[in-house]
Amino acid sequence: MNANELLSTLLSTRYRWLVTGGAGFIGSHLAETLLQFGQHVVTLDNLSTGHRRNLDQVKSAVGSDAWQRHRFMEGDIRDLHTCRSACMGVDFVLHHAALGSVPRSIADPIEANEANVSGFLNMLVASRDAKVKRFVYAASSSTYGDHPGLPKVEDEIGRPLSPYAVTKYVNELYADVFARCYGIETIGLRYFNVFGARQDPNGPYAAVIPRWVQALLTQHDVEIYGDGETSRDFCYVGNVVQVNVLAATTDRLDAINQIYNVAVGGRTTLNQLFETLRDLLAPEFPGIAGAKPLYKDFRAGDVRHSQADISKAQTLLAYAPTHDLRRGLREALGWYVGEYAGTELASGQAR
Ligand SMILES: NC(=O)c1ccc[n+]([C@@H]2O[C@H](COP(=O)([O-])OP(=O)(O)OC[C@H]3O[C@@H](n4cnc5c(N)ncnc54)[C@H](O)[C@@H]3O)[C@@H](O)[C@H]2O)c1
Repeated sequence: MNANELLSTLLSTRYRWLVTGGAGFIGSHLAETLLQFGQHVVTLDNLSTGHRRNLDQVKSAVGSDAWQRHRFMEGDIRDLHTCRSACMGVDFVLHHAALGSVPRSIADPIEANEANVSGFLNMLVASRDAKVKRFVYAASSSTYGDHPGLPKVEDEIGRPLSPYAVTKYVNELYADVFARCYGIETIGLRYFNVFGARQDPNGPYAAVIPRWVQALLTQHDVEIYGDGETSRDFCYVGNVVQVNVLAATTDRLDAINQIYNVAVGGRTTLNQLFETLRDLLAPEFPGIAGAKPLYKDFRAGDVRHSQADISKAQTLLAYAPTHDLRRGLREALGWYVGEYAGTELASGQAR
């Protein structure tokens, strides 16, 4: 069964979904797929790191008929009343609103805690009281902290290395306790470096792939923190959409109230990632062929190596990632080229 057949089977009943963080990168992909498959979707976002233009692109992708099944609520999960309104009549919550980025949380741990812990708790309480069928939420591979084991398995974690990691671990603890105390069904998805179209390349806290792609397309330096041998398990956003739908709809009792790694099980160093991006872009932009990275100091809080064991999600959720790094990049790069190549920025400064 291909990815579309799988989704259309899982989404053959029409439900109402709440996607928090729906104007962000991952949230907008969730909303897009759900709308494409006939679902009703409410997106809740305070537009702090997300953008209306992401939802505009979803609207263009799904068409105006499907768009009528969507409602955008501009609001903040730090406000319980907002969370309650958003949860009204909802079957499934896909909770993705949070302040991402390890360095952002090191710069402002209070802000990270308010959005990622207090906001998360508000969403859990609102979901419990609205009696939603299931609460699926974005956890993070940062929870592995300083645990040296590779690949990472869900029940062996170390000490957190950043305030962001603390907030994401606290999410898991709260979800577990809410399942025990109130019987709410939850599933936590520990994402490992997700990438794809609409991931924001701008600002000091941008993720590595969008930042580098934009830098290459606009002839700026690609900066690597450390020696480039830091490794990650990069995961295309299409895989993340698939696992969210699987997590929300599974009827396997032993799959519920669990945490899952979400990645592809690969391990790519930053040096290899740089070479792959250069190889994929150079045929269309020959100037990129000779690009070389600029090495900078290691960054505080960064985990050295990260690679997921995804067998738990494969076994219990029937997760079957459709995109490895190269295939995912091929799909994502077209969007970045459309957004950034040939822009004023692109023709501006030299490397
Ligand atoms: N992208 C990754 O590689 C990755 C890895 C691990 C975990 N995650 C988690 O996945 C989720 C989505 O991440 P993303 O990469 O799409 O980031 P993103 O910044 O694009 O999306 C997050 C969205 O949440 C919204 N938001 C933030 N604070 C809010 C608040 N107080 N109230 C309402 N909305 C708020 C933002 O405006 C944004 O639209 C986050 O929970 C993040 O921690 C992402």
